[in-house]
Amino acid sequence: MRERDPRIVLGLHRSRYERRILTSALELGVDAIDTSFNYHGFSAHTALAAAGRGLLPRFRLSTKVGFFPADGQAEHSLDPDRLREAVEQSNRDLGRAPDLVFLHNPERSLTGSSAAVQDSLGTACAAVERAAAEGLCGGWGISSWDPRPLPGLVDGTLPRPDAVMVRAGLLAGIDALEASEALAARWDLKPAHLWGMSPFGGSATQPLWGKLDPRVFIQEPHDGLSAVQATFRAAYWLPLVGRIAVGTDSPSHLGKLVDALRYEANADNLCTYRRLLREQRDPQPL
Ligand SMILES: NC(=O)c1ccc[n+]([C@@H]2O[C@H](COP(=O)([O-])OP(=O)(O)OC[C@H]3O[C@@H](n4cnc5c(N)ncnc54)[C@H](OP(=O)(O)O)[C@@H]3O)[C@@H](O)[C@H]2O)c1
Repeated sequence: MRERDPRIVLGLHRSRYERRILTSALELGVDAIDTSFNYHGFSAHTALAAAGRGLLPRFRLSTKVGFFPADGQAEHSLDPDRLREAVEQSNRDLGRAPDLVFLHNPERSLTGSSAAVQDSLGTACAAVERAAAEGLCGGWGISSWDPRPLPGLVDGTLPRPDAVMVRAGLLAGIDALEASEALAARWDLKPAHLWGMSPFGGSATQPLWGKLDPRVFIQEPHDGLSAVQATFRAAYWLPLVGRIAVGTDSPSHLGKLVDALRYEANADNLCTYRRLLREQRDPQPL
């Protein structure tokens, strides 16, 4: 049994919801899991409660609300009553209150004038904040795949979340990185409250990983560190986050990710990478 390390959150987006990965996670010191109301065809919570019978109290558990079933599909909504119902149903299906409930990709429903958009986001935040105050979850947050519209909406009127989760890593893209940092700055969120997600962009077998050696972003010596491990570790600095939600069904893959945590960043090369991304987006006139 390894010592607990809060920096890895086992993300269940693509999970088969098997007990084996849950028991292995605990053995590896990973005791945080992240799921969502809509994962696994809207059955993630019941699947997790079944696979994790007797284990769930040992995990820090986060989930998300924002997508709802509609005619066999998923539709997004920030309607406060629907959000509240989803949090209540999550409690019933999980058999316990989640430690954290994220508003899931709120940007998906932010359309209209800036006043309307701010009102809609503020009302949705207040709904999950109230659910937390009433004990339906330990805290609340925002999980955003595309945070670009969000920093401009944060003023003194918007409730401050306990955590924000954003895309992290070499594939996140400079716009998402800068928006995430701006959002964290607006709320004065320290890295402990900023989570990364999807460090491989959903797949660790993308052709890019055969062309770029991500070990350049890790301080030497890094003998024995694989490209996959380096990609994962580098994601903690793009942007600077305290923990990362990463998906795997494989105990040995999870073990490799845990092993990668002992390596440190090559700050100069990460800085250069960010500069190159910026230059590619904003080419200088000749
Ligand atoms: N908007 C949102 O709120 C949002 C969106 C996306 C993701 N997320 C969160 O982020 C979590 C992770 O995202 P994700 O699953 O989309 O992407 P990801 O973590 O970037 O990639 C998952 C893939 O990486 C592979 N992998 C992991 N560790 C590996 C290793 N050591 N060696 C080889 N392959 C490895 C896994 O395959 P194996 O199973 O074979 O290991 C899996 O196919 C989600 O579960 C969710 O919690 C949130």
